[in-house]
Amino acid sequence: MIKDILEKENLSKEDLLKLIQIEDPQELQLLLDKAYEIKLKYIGNKVYYRGLIECSNICIKNCRYCGIRKGNENVERFMLTKDDILEISQWIYENGYGSLALQSGERNDSEFVNFIEETLVEIQKNSNNSLGITLSLGEQTLDTYKRWLKAGASRYLLRIETTNRELFKKIHPNDEFHTFERRIKALKDLRTAGYQVGTGVMIGLPGQTYEDLVNDIIFFKENDIDMIGMGPYIIHEETPLGQEALGNILSDGKRFQLSLKMIALCRIYLKDINIAATTALHALDPLGREKGILAGANVIMPNATSKNIKPKYQLYRGKPNLNDDAIKGKLALEKSLKEVGEEVVYFKQGNSPHFYNRQK
Ligand code: 5AD
Ligand code: SF4
Repeated sequence: MIKDILEKENLSKEDLLKLIQIEDPQELQLLLDKAYEIKLKYIGNKVYYRGLIECSNICIKNCRYCGIRKGNENVERFMLTKDDILEISQWIYENGYGSLALQSGERNDSEFVNFIEETLVEIQKNSNNSLGITLSLGEQTLDTYKRWLKAGASRYLLRIETTNRELFKKIHPNDEFHTFERRIKALKDLRTAGYQVGTGVMIGLPGQTYEDLVNDIIFFKENDIDMIGMGPYIIHEETPLGQEALGNILSDGKRFQLSLKMIALCRIYLKDINIAATTALHALDPLGREKGILAGANVIMPNATSKNIKPKYQLYRGKPNLNDDAIKGKLALEKSLKEVGEEVVYFKQGNSPHFYNRQK
């Protein structure tokens, strides 16, 4: 019985496998409710924002699923200037978000590494060192991670994408830049450098099984992950995987539901970590983020990048852009969260409790 499994203090792999396959709406609700109960216990009815700044869509990699992959010649490439980033950061700071996230395509040339380092120093200078800064800038050397941490970042998100090595191979080009081992090494280096370490996966990839997803959750636990950002895989037609996946993946509704189940299971299994209700959830459902929060997530990353730049940062089709956050704004999101009983916390960083609990 699902109910009995949900009563257990510690779930086995078999339990996780049963729970992730729930289809019955009442059982699904039991699962989500349990996850929300655990969220209330460990985090409270609180949501933390990270103002998201999409700094650049220039990328040296060629991941087969991603719309801004190097090989996509239809993308008009951009890079924000330091002043752009500082201006958006200032808006985030003044609006009390407490944290921001810098995201971009991957680059590891020294010009880029220096640029990020200098920008971080200035962001923190302008905010009295009060902002929690998350980086999502791909695989870098340990030395680069250390420099960026010293310059003011404290968290790093690097998704493993899938822990099934065969599947990982299928969704990436077969070359030395895109290996599973490199990704694992990068996650280890992030821990060594001293970050709150975040990872995550795409959910509903072609060929991905329930067991793969359960193994992903177990991987998060085994690697003592502090934060999770994961969401449904979404087809981008101008990509090789997108072409193969057309008519060959679960429906949008199913991938959305599976993503909610993954959030719930991570909350139940990992308890005191930070979990983001991601943009990709929002892309499949206008209330996706709110539903993600009710399934156990506690972090939202409202896009703060200004309106004339956003359309160029398309990782997948139907990405909510154009001012969904900047215009519809803060207030609408806050209101819809309030309606589900959740409070947005301002002027606090909202760090991963798990990170601090581990240090004790
Ligand atoms: N669908 C969903 N997520 C995607 N990402 C990239 N392309 C897609 C897609 N088509 C995610 C990857 C990557 C992050 C930056 O965006 O998980 O780590
Ligand atoms: Fe580049 Fe990240 Fe897209 Fe891969 S997923 S192509 S590294 S932006």
